[in-house]
Amino acid sequence: MNCFSTNTLPMFVVLIFVTILQLMNFSSADSRQSFLSIDYYHKTCPQLEGIIQNKVSAMINKDYTMAPSLLRLHFHDCAVRGCDGSILLNHKGSERSAAASKTLRGLEAIQEIKAEVEKHCPKTVSCADILTAAARDATVGMGGPFWEVPFGRKDGRVSTAQEADRLVPMGRENITTLVQFYQARGLTLLDLVILSGAHTIGRSSCGSLQFRLYNFNGTRKPDPSIDVKYLNYLKRKCRWASELVDLDATTPRGFDAAYYTNLQKKMGLLYTDQALYTDPRTEPLVTAMATQPSLFFQQFSVSMVKLGNVQVLTGKREGEIRRNCNFVN
Ligand code: HEM
Ligand SMILES: *[C@@H]1O[C@H](CO)[C@@H](O)[C@H](O)[C@H]1NC(C)=O
Ligand SMILES: *[C@@H]1O[C@H](CO)[C@@H](O)[C@H](O)[C@H]1NC(C)=O
Repeated sequence: MNCFSTNTLPMFVVLIFVTILQLMNFSSADSRQSFLSIDYYHKTCPQLEGIIQNKVSAMINKDYTMAPSLLRLHFHDCAVRGCDGSILLNHKGSERSAAASKTLRGLEAIQEIKAEVEKHCPKTVSCADILTAAARDATVGMGGPFWEVPFGRKDGRVSTAQEADRLVPMGRENITTLVQFYQARGLTLLDLVILSGAHTIGRSSCGSLQFRLYNFNGTRKPDPSIDVKYLNYLKRKCRWASELVDLDATTPRGFDAAYYTNLQKKMGLLYTDQALYTDPRTEPLVTAMATQPSLFFQQFSVSMVKLGNVQVLTGKREGEIRRNCNFVN
């Protein structure tokens, strides 16, 4: 029997387990992160974080749904060739044109922030760094935790739709596949559970979950891991694939730990969300976060920094500082 598989493990055992995983975080952290630093632009662009923060909060004030979109955009950037701004490139066949990118938003928002940054600090700040900081500010803007963002990423010159469609998880994967995806990027099982907590804000198109509602996996029945009332709600709501549904059914406008308590109530929207509670490897971590929201906030900060460090370009001859986020120089 898997030693983590029972619901009845006392909470302190789970917490010790989480603490051990946290300690492992430090030893397995991507060594490239040491090339990034919090004061990277302190001399060359001291206003940078203020500019980004002002822009992001103005955008959220106008339309709060921009916050989750910016957070997701950063994830899609980091998922393919690391956090190198490759998602922003706008040429024929670039990542933006992938099926996996179809519902991405916020690309123009980053373009707008970059234009403002160029006015103050021309040819200095990478698009990848701007996107990373915008994702942090979007999180804070929704009531989530603050963390210091290490800077110094260069922008990549390569972006292909095929890679995005091959690499970016779409919500139908099993936990084994997701763990492998994260491991390949230096991220752990704990990072998987924590970063999925970003789905405490934002929406999904029905197209990403309709397969759960009627004929799940060829059974001619709905996915048994959905609560019946929630299932009926989703069936009513999802008449078109383009319809949007809140990822967090209870508190969609706030960044909080409700994502995890929803999973305990079989109210995870995506198959990959609910699977975190079904799978014995991740269930104890979901339970720990549902019980200890402050632990979720703390660890979200840690895991987001790790996400932002994935495969970053930092060497003198690696990448470039793009002048326009849509095009290589
Ligand atoms: C575990 C792997 C992940 C999978 C399978 C996944 C899958 C998805 C899917 C299918 C959607 C809805 C797309 C649509 O149909 O419109 C979505 C939305 C979203 N994802 Fe993820 N995701 C994952 C990880 C992440 C991570 C790591 C983050 C950020 C740290 C993130 C942040 C978001 C946000 C905020 C939204 C809502 C976007 C909006 O409202 O515009 N996701 N995700
Ligand atoms: C998970 O998904 C992969 C890829 O679709 C598949 O090869 C594998 O058999 C699945 N594993 C489990 C445990 O279902
Ligand atoms: C789908 O069905 C196959 C074959 O019956 C099974 O092995 C697999 O675990 C099922 N996948 C899910 C997600 O239930």
